[in-house]
Amino acid sequence: MKSSFTLVTGGAGFIGSHLCDELTVRGENVLVIDNLSTGKESNLPSRGTVEFLKGDVSDPSTVKAAFERFSVDRVYHLAAVASVQESVKHPARTHAVNFDSTLLLLEESRARQVKSFFFASSAAVYGGAPKLPCREDGAVSPMTPYGIDKYASERYALSYASLYGLNAFAARFFNVFGPRQDPASPYSGVLSIFSDRMRKEKPSLILFGDGKQTRDFVYVKDVVGALVHLTSHPEAAGRVFNVGCGKAVSLLDVIHELERLSGRKAELKFEAARPGDIRHSRADISALKRTGFTPKVSFEAGLAEYWAELER
Ligand code: NAD
Ligand code: UD1
Repeated sequence: MKSSFTLVTGGAGFIGSHLCDELTVRGENVLVIDNLSTGKESNLPSRGTVEFLKGDVSDPSTVKAAFERFSVDRVYHLAAVASVQESVKHPARTHAVNFDSTLLLLEESRARQVKSFFFASSAAVYGGAPKLPCREDGAVSPMTPYGIDKYASERYALSYASLYGLNAFAARFFNVFGPRQDPASPYSGVLSIFSDRMRKEKPSLILFGDGKQTRDFVYVKDVVGALVHLTSHPEAAGRVFNVGCGKAVSLLDVIHELERLSGRKAELKFEAARPGDIRHSRADISALKRTGFTPKVSFEAGLAEYWAELER
């Protein structure tokens, strides 16, 4: 009999690689599909059973071949163009990755009756002026191709639960941060860019807007903890959960905290706000808490751990 594998798409990326670490520690065999567009093979765990297929998750033949070669019994779909700004620049190209891949994976998962299917959605589904804190049963109004594809994918996943009995669930991640978030592009997550710059002798940071925009930053280890917890929760199927900390932190607060950790003062350059940028974002995490999971790492503690890791 073939051994079972847990498929992690985007497993060479920031969040995906932390998830792979945890799954291998739990003794699961992991199969990763990643095209290394932003991920790195060196992010993959060095221990445990990890098979790596370099390929495009929106290509039907790649996805089909993976399911034919391996006996996949769980799926975590994280591969995506994670940058909101990239989707504003290239809506058609990002749609193929951020939406088509979900339908392909759902179809394979339905045909093979996998044990569970997870889709990585985003706070971007709530749009520009949500009622705060954002609740899963509140209004959605995605403003960008990224947010629209996340919402459509999420709905497809949940409809596969109600229509076909697939054990599918989704999480709307708020702003995730931590080790291995790649600061390489100007469209990378703001915390990775700012932390990277603050390590320089004379740091200079660009603020798009006035720096008073807020985000609900959540540490990557809590995100992985929430995913593993929800996967085995009997009431997760067919539902979507906010995954954040429930606290709003402004970019100016972030800079203040990084100045404290680094002992350096940052030069700030203010530029126009970016198109499609959300002003404020904060999660209501009571649904997640009701399942028995509460994030453990505060913004300050997570940033201190991330900073120490960068300085190591
Ligand atoms: P990331 O860019 O580090 O990871 C994405 C991974 O997907 C990368 O390894 C990349 O190489 C891979 N990938 C991209 N296109 C692919 C394709 N066509 N085929 C195969 N692999 C492909 O980003 P991340 O921050 O780890 O994001 C992971 C998931 O979580 C994404 O779906 C993202 O939209 C979602 N998300 C992230 C955040 C956040 O704050 N980082 C918040 C909300 C949702
Ligand atoms: C991020 C994630 C997205 C996720 C969403 C959930 C990335 C790249 N994006 O998008 O996948 O779905 O959270 O809420 O991980 N900024 C600056 N200076 C910089 C860089 C950014 O001022 O050098 C500003 C941006 O204009 C924005 C804020 O910082 O106002 C956050 O930007 P970013 O980290 O790109 O995150 P989101 O757009 O919130």
